[in-house]
Amino acid sequence: MKVCVGKTMNILVTGGAGFIGFHVAKALLDRGDHVIIVDDFNDYYDPQLKEDRIKALGDSNFKLYRQDISDFKEMENIFKENQIDKICHLAAQAGVRYSIDHPLSYESNNGRGTLVILEMARHFNVKDVVFASSSSVYGGNKKVPFSESDVVDNPVSLYAATKKYDELMAYTYHHLYGLNCTGLRFFTVYGPFGRPDMALFKFVKAITEDQPIDVYNHGNMKRDFTYIDNITSGVLAAIDKPFPYEVINLGNNRTVELHYFIELIEKDLGKEAKKNMMDMQPGDVLETHADIEKAKSLLGYNPGNDVEEGIKKFIDWYKEYYSIE
Ligand SMILES: NC(=O)c1ccc[n+]([C@@H]2O[C@H](COP(=O)([O-])OP(=O)(O)OC[C@H]3O[C@@H](n4cnc5c(N)ncnc54)[C@H](O)[C@@H]3O)[C@@H](O)[C@H]2O)c1
Repeated sequence: MKVCVGKTMNILVTGGAGFIGFHVAKALLDRGDHVIIVDDFNDYYDPQLKEDRIKALGDSNFKLYRQDISDFKEMENIFKENQIDKICHLAAQAGVRYSIDHPLSYESNNGRGTLVILEMARHFNVKDVVFASSSSVYGGNKKVPFSESDVVDNPVSLYAATKKYDELMAYTYHHLYGLNCTGLRFFTVYGPFGRPDMALFKFVKAITEDQPIDVYNHGNMKRDFTYIDNITSGVLAAIDKPFPYEVINLGNNRTVELHYFIELIEKDLGKEAKKNMMDMQPGDVLETHADIEKAKSLLGYNPGNDVEEGIKKFIDWYKEYYSIE
């Protein structure tokens, strides 16, 4: 029996217990949509954080499946049980460095996982699919800012290769079955309930615990850091406005030197970091910088929250969540 909730849209959010998925699910629920979350709560990082994100959704209008998306049969059951109007596919094995030692996790979660989602969209006639790609697809490209029209045939990590693979598969499903697919290339997302494997979380944790931080390439790196609220509004805009097939950058269009990023954290924590200066890591890139003109014109995307403000918001959340004075 299919569940149909009046005019409200039923939106499947894969990876809804994850950092971005949680914020997207929350924003959809806040505006009155019904959300179906599928997440396997894997232990790539502390699953308690995933549980707490789900708790933070309160008892709003969502349904939760603790399920691996790469399981075709189980996903079929979920699609039979629910009338899904749109798909927002965010579940993935994330992380560039982890892909060096755990390549197979990327093949099953990002490769097969995305293929299963596209198969579901095809068989259950869900026309509109928004999915997460990544700035990593730009690899070591030298031309900045990175534009969607740039060649992205040279991924420098397996993570990036699987994200490019996702874009290619989505194009094929658009071509063959008429699905509307929008791939969003996120640029280093940060904010409350953020990921423990990412620099901001790791730096704040280490500094508050008097531990040294690893500073790769001796701090000579630049990232286009994007505050979570900007990503959330970009994802919702993409859900609301389907295109036949597009890939769109969601970044901030401002590059920040790693040195300056660390200074800001030190300033907000009122404490100096002990730094381990390290060489560049395999799979890493020197700079990311998003050209966001396409997002502006197609999605009305207009990122606010500069990194000075965003880091402070993250640290406020971190202190409260971990009860730090
Ligand atoms: N955070 C960033 O800076 C960033 C940048 C570029 C791209 N992305 C992409 O955005 C998406 C969301 O990233 P995030 O930062 O929220 O990561 P995250 O790890 O916090 O969220 C991913 C969620 O997906 C779930 N998941 C993974 N494999 C699954 C599977 N096979 N079945 C069901 N659930 C599964 C995980 O349990 C997790 O809760 C990912 O596709 C990621 O590759 C993120």
